[in-house]
Amino acid sequence: MTDNSKPRVFSGIQPTGKKTLGNYSGGFRQYVQTQATGDAFFCIVDLHSITVDYDPADLRESTLDLAALLFATGLDSEKSTVFAQSHVSAHAEAAWLLSAVTSYGQLGRMTQFKDKSEGREFISAGLFTYPVLMAGDILLYQTDLVPIGDDQRQHLELARDVAERFNFRFGETFRVPSGVFPEVGGRIMDLQEPTKKMSTTLSSEQGAVYITDTPDAIRKKFKSAVTDSERGVRYDPEAKAGVSNLLEIMSVATGRSIDDLQAEFGDAGYGTFKEAVGESVVELLAPIRERFEALRADERELQRLLAVGAEKARRVADPTLEQMYDRMGFAKATAGRLFGAARPRGL
Ligand code: TRP
Repeated sequence: MTDNSKPRVFSGIQPTGKKTLGNYSGGFRQYVQTQATGDAFFCIVDLHSITVDYDPADLRESTLDLAALLFATGLDSEKSTVFAQSHVSAHAEAAWLLSAVTSYGQLGRMTQFKDKSEGREFISAGLFTYPVLMAGDILLYQTDLVPIGDDQRQHLELARDVAERFNFRFGETFRVPSGVFPEVGGRIMDLQEPTKKMSTTLSSEQGAVYITDTPDAIRKKFKSAVTDSERGVRYDPEAKAGVSNLLEIMSVATGRSIDDLQAEFGDAGYGTFKEAVGESVVELLAPIRERFEALRADERELQRLLAVGAEKARRVADPTLEQMYDRMGFAKATAGRLFGAARPRGL
């Protein structure tokens, strides 16, 4: 079932917020590429979503939204394993077991915890232990490579530390994973404020392009995108300027090099250039949007695809979990914990 010649790839994606062109470029696009080169698992991390204030009805909807979007952007349920974290009970169990080898001090140094807890009146314990759950996600699958954004470096480092501490304390159990960080297209900036990253939560409606935006909405957003005064269509990534961002976006959308695009649009006016960028993004996203709409309309099929994914995921995660229990000295459950863990949850 597992192919040992290909590196095991694992990534987790939060089911919250409307996903942007930035998420596509730095995330979804890389996930699809790994299908050819790796043995890949993509986990909709719904258990992570309850660490901040949330609405239960939204969580269910956005879990299905994200599943549809992952398939719409090109993940194939035959080649990759796409599943919801809560459908595989090993994740919640691993987080508890791994908390024994996670340092309280290290958790307190996580910048994401500090940022997300700042100024809140209620800070959940789950927000603090979030990185332990994430470490379990990765380690249960004996993962080699973890494609993630730059903002997740510290969490990955913690996962590696946890793996090493467990291996040292209880015997060799986990593979120690490495991060894969996007190079090109990893930082798509806000169309209105090109010094800031395009963000699900922080960007304005006009500043962010959503993967499921209509073609007209996309055209409008590019038409009103901020450009630089008097510099022309020139690429200068250091300046974090609007035009450079638009060139990067067009390069992502068309697969053409920045040099090539500069040669074509160097003498064009901003209006013409922005229109061309908008059109290239419409061409990229329109088919994705159509597939998304079709998939999202068929919840039974989505549920079925997630059930197939969860089944495949359990077959890999459960043996690792069993080994963890065993190495940590828990008495064996006579009926076999495996049967309990493998029981499909009311899908
Ligand atoms: N914390 C990650 C994020 O916010 C999501 C995540 C959860 C994840 N578990 C993971 C990413 C495991 C990679 C691997 O982006």
